[in-house]
Amino acid sequence: MRLRNIPGAKETIENNRFVVHELQEKRGNWKEVFGNSNPIHIEVGMGKGRFLMEMADLNPEINYLGIEMYDSVLLRAVQKMEEKAEEGTAPENLRFIRMDARELPLIFDKNEIDRIYLNFSDPWPKERHAKRRLTSRQFFQRYDQILAPRGVVEFKTDNRPLFEFSLEETEEAGWKLMAHTFDLHHDPSMNEGNVMTEYEEKFSSMGNPIYKMIAGR
Ligand SMILES: C[S@@+](CC[C@H](N)C(=O)[O-])C[C@H]1O[C@@H](n2cnc3c(N)ncnc32)[C@H](O)[C@@H]1O
Repeated sequence: MRLRNIPGAKETIENNRFVVHELQEKRGNWKEVFGNSNPIHIEVGMGKGRFLMEMADLNPEINYLGIEMYDSVLLRAVQKMEEKAEEGTAPENLRFIRMDARELPLIFDKNEIDRIYLNFSDPWPKERHAKRRLTSRQFFQRYDQILAPRGVVEFKTDNRPLFEFSLEETEEAGWKLMAHTFDLHHDPSMNEGNVMTEYEEKFSSMGNPIYKMIAGR
């Protein structure tokens, strides 16, 4: 999801109260950002943030961080939060980070994160770009550095080759596949409590099955 460059997006994000800045200083101190010691769940490649806004409303005892690398996309999430703030409904337990996820271990300490969501991640179909996929062994290594021992990675997609790659990479990375389905919306146990993302709404309404896996160590 790369929108055209939007003039002023960078400046708006740099000054926004829902976006966390000076990220490396927060390493090891993320609980202070939220002012409590609740578990922290992150979505990597958040897009416009719809999934996390709903999750944050549903689970006030969890702190959520949405990570997105494009200003133009993050701007949409920020604008939505500002609208919610005006209505008095902006969740206290949700903040955003503008960053390339390759830098995750620079901003989070060992065990600091309790769950990682990857939703409809970019497929990077060319083989030479495999290491950019958020479910590549290189990314599992980064997740290993920040995730608590019982923490899990939850991945959803409608892209079958990317899903099959992700199942293989889980094993290659030495992680355990804890659950998976090739048709989430028709799998009553895995679909229980499922919150749809923006892309999930779009692709499932076109009739695409949604794949999901949960991996841990
Ligand atoms: C296809 S969109 C999916 C958005 C949302 N998760 C959903 O399911 O509706 C993928 C998003 O991941 C972001 N992204 C891709 N690689 C990233 C990376 N290395 N670090 C941070 N964000 C990334 C893209 O900019 C894009 O907004």
